[in-house]
This record gives sequence, structure tokens and C-alpha cells, in this order.
Amino acid sequence: MTKTTPRNYWRDDRCAKAFWSQHELPAYQQLLTDTTAWLDPEPGGRWLDLGCGAGRLCRALWTKSGGQLAELVGLDVAALNAKSFEKLGQSLSPPPLERLRFETVDFSVGLPWTGENLFNGAVSGLAIQYAESFSEAEQRWTCDAYDGLLREVHRVLKPGTRFVFSVNVPEPSWGRVGWNAMSGFWSAKRKLRFLGKLHGMWRYGGWLKREARKGRFHYLPAETITSKLTAAGFTDIEHRLSFANQAFLFRATKR
Ligand SMILES: C[S@@+](CC[C@H](N)C(=O)[O-])C[C@H]1O[C@@H](n2cnc3c(N)ncnc32)[C@H](O)[C@@H]1O
Repeated sequence: MTKTTPRNYWRDDRCAKAFWSQHELPAYQQLLTDTTAWLDPEPGGRWLDLGCGAGRLCRALWTKSGGQLAELVGLDVAALNAKSFEKLGQSLSPPPLERLRFETVDFSVGLPWTGENLFNGAVSGLAIQYAESFSEAEQRWTCDAYDGLLREVHRVLKPGTRFVFSVNVPEPSWGRVGWNAMSGFWSAKRKLRFLGKLHGMWRYGGWLKREARKGRFHYLPAETITSKLTAAGFTDIEHRLSFANQAFLFRATKR
């Protein structure tokens, strides 16, 4: 990337913290339930969570496996999430100890493993769409990092295992997500705090949408995502809507 590349707020603590609260939104709870329903963590398996944030999907994986995973790795560009993972480890039952791990990784430049066929599953929630790559030669944002990341996930998965992930629909309506959240507002104990959190996500959401319009981030039609997954080597690709219809949930298999 060039020195003129505009700021990426995902690397800022304030942005990371703003999205820690998204689990309070009914739309996010719907997405979490839908994603968890498509996860099949077998005892002894090794799993990966890309753009893990505070680790909500890691919690879901650990719980659904009955605490029997051999390894659970959360990756995120925001180093601040390491603290959340410490708390997460202490709150899970049975305690995962060293089986749960956080790594600060920018997945735009690839995954930190050289081998292949390493994991029994990979999950990602509203994150891989932020893989970014800028072509200095063409002076424009490209899909190279996004496409490369799909190939990387395919490489590290074992044959017969799945990648389950969500991404926002083109031109996502944060207003719809916010409106959907108002049911949470009436039941929230600290209403001002609830509105403040909603505002934080709304503000960063506006920035994300503007950057996506420039081609920096990738809110793509489902058909385009299916083609990219196929090009990366995945088969048996399915998707459905979730997150107040503002996200696609995908699952795809490495044959
Ligand atoms: C909307 S949040 C979702 C967090 C989490 N997956 C969840 O479901 O709660 C998107 C996450 O993607 C991470 N992210 C954005 N760009 C990234 C990159 N290039 N490499 C790794 N993580 C990234 C952000 O830091 C953030 O934690």
C-alpha cells in the first residue's frame, strides 16, 4: 500500500471497541444463531476464526464442541482484542487454557501458516470483506487481497471440511440494522449507553460503506462471492440472508 492510502480504522482501538458492542443488537444475535447452526466442531478438531473481534464465534465454537476442540485460533488486525480473549478464556467451561489463542494478523497479506490441510474448519463473521489491496501501478483498490484470502483459507483447511462466513450485502442499510435494534433499546437498562454504542457503529459503518464504494472493501453480490469461492477451489457452496437481511451467510467445502 502507498503512503497516500487513507486510514484504516479497523486498526484503531476505538473502532475495535465500537464493534465489541454489536452483540447487543438483535440483528447480530440472529446472525450469531444462524452462523452457529452451520458450524460442526468435532471433538479434537482445530478451528480458525478470521477477524474474530472479541471472540463471539470462538465462544460459540467452544460451546458447541462441548469444550473438546484441540485448538481454537482467533485472528484479528486489532491487537486490542487479545485482552478480550484473555477474559474469554477465563469465562469458558471447560477452561480451554492454551487450546484457545489470539494472534494479531492482517489477513490482507495472508495467513501465518506455510503448510496446508491444517484445520478442521474456519469461520468468520462480517470480517473477510475488509481484506484490502491497493495497486500502485493502476492507482486503484483491487480484489486481490480478498481473492487471495479465500485461496489461503482453502489451503489451510483439511479436505472435506468447511468455511462458514458472513459478509455484508452490497450497500448494506445500517438504518435497517439500527431500526431492528430499537427493540433492544426499550429493554436496555442504560438507554443512553445503548444509543452511544449504536451511534459508534453507525459512524464507522458510514466510513466502511464509503470505502466499499471505492472498491477498497467488498460488499459483493452473492453470485460474485460464489464465483470467487469456486475460483479458490471450494465446492458445495450455499448461502442465505441474515443480520436483518443485511448480510449473506455462506458455507463452502474443500473437497
Ligand atoms: C464487524 S467486526 C466482526 C468481529 C467478529 N467477527 C464478530 O462477529 O463479532 C470485523 C472484524 O474484522 C477485523 N478486521 C478488519 N480488517 C482486518 C484485517 N485486514 N485483518 C484481520 N482482521 C481484520 C476487525 O478488526 C474486526 O474485529
